[in-house]
Amino acid sequence: MAEEPVRSVAVLGAGVIGASWVAMFAARGIQVRVWDPQCGAAQIQAVIDGAAPALAAMGHPVDNALWTIVSSPIEAVHGADFVQENAPENLAMKRALFQQVTPVLGPRTVISSSTSGLMASAMQEGLDCADRILVGHPFNPPHMVPLVEVVGGRDTAPWAVERAVEFYRAVGKHPLKIDREVPGHVVDRLQAALFREMIHMIREGIATPEMIDQGMIYGPGLRWSVIGPCMQMHLSGGEAGVRHLLNHLGPAIESWWGHLGQPTIDDRAKDLMEEGMRREAGGRSVAELCAERDKALLGVLKALEENPRPGEV
Ligand SMILES: NC(=O)c1ccc[n+]([C@@H]2O[C@H](COP(=O)([O-])OP(=O)(O)OC[C@H]3O[C@@H](n4cnc5c(N)ncnc54)[C@H](O)[C@@H]3O)[C@@H](O)[C@H]2O)c1
Repeated sequence: MAEEPVRSVAVLGAGVIGASWVAMFAARGIQVRVWDPQCGAAQIQAVIDGAAPALAAMGHPVDNALWTIVSSPIEAVHGADFVQENAPENLAMKRALFQQVTPVLGPRTVISSSTSGLMASAMQEGLDCADRILVGHPFNPPHMVPLVEVVGGRDTAPWAVERAVEFYRAVGKHPLKIDREVPGHVVDRLQAALFREMIHMIREGIATPEMIDQGMIYGPGLRWSVIGPCMQMHLSGGEAGVRHLLNHLGPAIESWWGHLGQPTIDDRAKDLMEEGMRREAGGRSVAELCAERDKALLGVLKALEENPRPGEV
């Protein structure tokens, strides 16, 4: 039997990620009930207003009449077709939230967690709604970046994974279904690998945050946004392709791996990052920086749309 389409979503937790999801859903004709223990409607509205110009430019203006803030997670989840959870990255907190909403969770309602790195198996263990819990990890800002990593846990029902994938696709996202659970999923792990070396080089005084940002924007980040690092390796091997590249540069790359750092994100790392961001922002507020980012991302998304990737999974 075909599933009913998702028409209403409960958003639990409306910080950076949750509020951006609200904007995205409300721009796609989805009814949204939002609950956050601290953020009020004005705070969420400010994030939505920031996201609105980009969403309108993408052909999906935000309909503010579609979202409403409610006073409990139970009220948000009651009658919802889908739940997007964006509470802090804390396993116990997420599990407590899931347990709390279980009595009102519909039998075909999926709880999709935005978690950056927790595994669905850990989040669902022993809960009555375990079959409906999975990871739906977006990339900031969810109102613009299409990717959502979808990962089920040991007890997630296959239908729930399929429903999440279908729903994300229906609202214009690019779901990537991942069959094996690992901390950090797949793509966020890659980010974590980059972050590790980035923090290491900043702490050691090898590079400044501004150097790293410029380097990534004008170098690898630019080409990764259109061909990806694996295909890039293939092209870097010339006509002989990726095997030649790996034969040629593989031993050198392996030797660099031995020098990669194992930093901790201590006060020194935090101070250096904060100072770098103060210099790089040059007085621009976070809202202004987000608006600049969104405007530029529109161009990249347009380029991707005009040049669809062959062989997508
Ligand atoms: N920031 C990112 O780049 C990013 C990207 C992808 C995924 N995520 C994931 O999204 C989730 C939320 O992260 P964020 O960056 O939006 O954090 P955030 O700190 O901006 O927002 C968290 C929100 O959760 C609320 N909250 C506190 N306790 C809660 C509870 N018990 N139940 C529900 N909400 C509660 C807070 O009031 C706050 O508004 C995390 O799991 C994180 O790993 C973050």
